[in-house]
Amino acid sequence: MSAVLEVTDLGRSFGGIAAVDGVSFEVQQAEIVGIIGPNGSGKSTLFNLLTSVHKPDRGQVRLFGQDITRTPSHKIARAGLSRTFQLPALFVNMTVRQNLWTAAVEGDWRGAPELANEVLELLDLAHVSDELAGSLSGGQQRLLEMGRVLMQQPRVVLLDEVAAGVHPRLRQTILGAIRELRSRDATFLIIEHDLELTQDICDRMIVMDAGKIVAEGSFEEITHDPHVMEAYLGVPAE
Ligand SMILES: Nc1ncnc2c1ncn2[C@@H]1O[C@H](COP(=O)(O)OP(=O)(O)OP(=O)(O)O)[C@@H](O)[C@H]1O
Ligand SMILES: [Mg+2]
Repeated sequence: MSAVLEVTDLGRSFGGIAAVDGVSFEVQQAEIVGIIGPNGSGKSTLFNLLTSVHKPDRGQVRLFGQDITRTPSHKIARAGLSRTFQLPALFVNMTVRQNLWTAAVEGDWRGAPELANEVLELLDLAHVSDELAGSLSGGQQRLLEMGRVLMQQPRVVLLDEVAAGVHPRLRQTILGAIRELRSRDATFLIIEHDLELTQDICDRMIVMDAGKIVAEGSFEEITHDPHVMEAYLGVPAE
């Protein structure tokens, strides 16, 4: 089995703060990997480095064996890696369907309407497809943000707290979509504060604290790790 994503000694500081500090890990095809950690531990910055929103100070990112460390974001998307942002950035004055069309990868407009229909079904948004994005509930807006990512037909998907504050029913829709896409060999990296949700869907967990990976393993393993109990769950290590 070869890794779809290989991250080696990735680092980035802002001012004096090492937001991501020497992070290395691999993700295999069709894996669902959860990333947890306290606020400010560097999770979103890690995604920003993987997608060239920020340039790393050091380290390397390889996607399907190719070095993408300093590749522009849109080329990374074209190479098969797409992500959601922690704060959805939708076109609030366009309809749900139009939001999906505009997210199609550059040069692939012809297939967009049909693909949009598939995404609308997958995310249970077909009944609101002609409504303005700005009129949707917060949870539906998160689904639409995810839908815009799926319009790029990514092989590796990074989700940054996509289920935060989302109604339980819509969460199930998100989880169903992730499972369906994984069955088609998509790979997921999921930042999530809700441990129950990660336990539900993730094959493996990565725990970050202060820019570093402090634990890695199955949900059972990491929730019994003393460092994790202390750093993340607030339980002092014995
Ligand atoms: N563009 C930036 N400029 C300055 N500092 C930044 C920037 N981006 C992130 N940081 C800092 O880097 C650290 C890590 O932030 P990051 O957003 O990656 O954390 P996070 O784990 O995603 O937190 P949360 O769970 O709250 O979303 C924080 O100290 C943050 O203030
Ligand atoms: Mg974040």
